[in-house]
Amino acid sequence: MTNQGQAFDVNAMTLTRFVLAEQKKHPSASGDLSQLLTCIQTAIKAVSSAVRKAGIAQLHGISGETNVQGEVVKKLDVLSNELFINMLQSSYKTCLLVSEENSSVIEIDEDKRGKYIVCFDPLDGSSNIDCLVSIGSIFAIYKQNSSGTPQVSDALQAGRDMVAAGYALYGSATMIVLTSGFGVNGFTYDPAIGEFILTDANMRIPDKGKIYSINEGYSYLWDQSVVQYIQDKKNPAKGKPYGARYVGSMVADVHRTIKYGGIFIYPATSDNPKGKLRLLYECNPMAFIITQAGGKASTGKMDILDVVPESIHQRVPIYLGSKLDVDEALSYIK
Ligand code: AHM
Ligand code: MG
Repeated sequence: MTNQGQAFDVNAMTLTRFVLAEQKKHPSASGDLSQLLTCIQTAIKAVSSAVRKAGIAQLHGISGETNVQGEVVKKLDVLSNELFINMLQSSYKTCLLVSEENSSVIEIDEDKRGKYIVCFDPLDGSSNIDCLVSIGSIFAIYKQNSSGTPQVSDALQAGRDMVAAGYALYGSATMIVLTSGFGVNGFTYDPAIGEFILTDANMRIPDKGKIYSINEGYSYLWDQSVVQYIQDKKNPAKGKPYGARYVGSMVADVHRTIKYGGIFIYPATSDNPKGKLRLLYECNPMAFIITQAGGKASTGKMDILDVVPESIHQRVPIYLGSKLDVDEALSYIK
């Protein structure tokens, strides 16, 4: 209900309120995950503000490489990484971080340590940053499964063991999509009050869509099964042809796939037999979200969530989307 003469709904379900209400449903919960999610939310607000160029002078320096204070201007992906690391460290709830931007794991100082491990891509869609096309942040949260000093092996858990995952889409609006294993919910940022508001409750992906999403420029490098599948999706003799959509930002392509249905593929190619996308902070969190929304995510050979990682920056091919579309694509793969 909206107050007369006011744009603000006094009953609005903010993300913070939602997370606290979810926590209450689990009487044994310590509140650590809620606090961690609040810190991630703050990092996302700051990244969103930077992506929207809210402080143009600071971000661009207007006259070149340095800003008005004479400081070297940080690139947006570097800035986003620093914001995430800072917020995660100061949450007191993490012990180990894996970022796309850092070659090794980041071990949290003992006095700031908590039980969670966060794998994240602070700003995904690097080729779209400079031309103002939608980009996003992705994160996956695990619990440390050993005691004592956190080890790299603690970060190499299968996606099935994930506690929570989410992404932020910096599109025509900023949105956070979140799951902690009990369905998927979407929250749109309201800049007027600086809060994310629940706008997409219990998101469900259609069982079948009408869109395929793949970088077709690489078709000369694909396996014959992928070539055949995409050909058939365009062949009127095989059913109503699908439309093609490809943003080139995984968050935007996955978000559209959840909303409209269809399939997103980043397959193995002859020059990259493991594909391009990273298991820990791109494929796994997206696979968890899609699965929770009623869809499916596979490497082509197995469920993404069953892959046991061998290294933190490991890549996997991915077929993700509506259940029937992914099953159909997999039927082409021997
Ligand atoms: P990045 O981590 O360097 O941004 O690369 C990941 C991005 C994904 O967002 C997107 O799905 C993919 O790369 C697009 O790659 P390509 O340009 O090869 O189609
Ligand atoms: Mg990335």
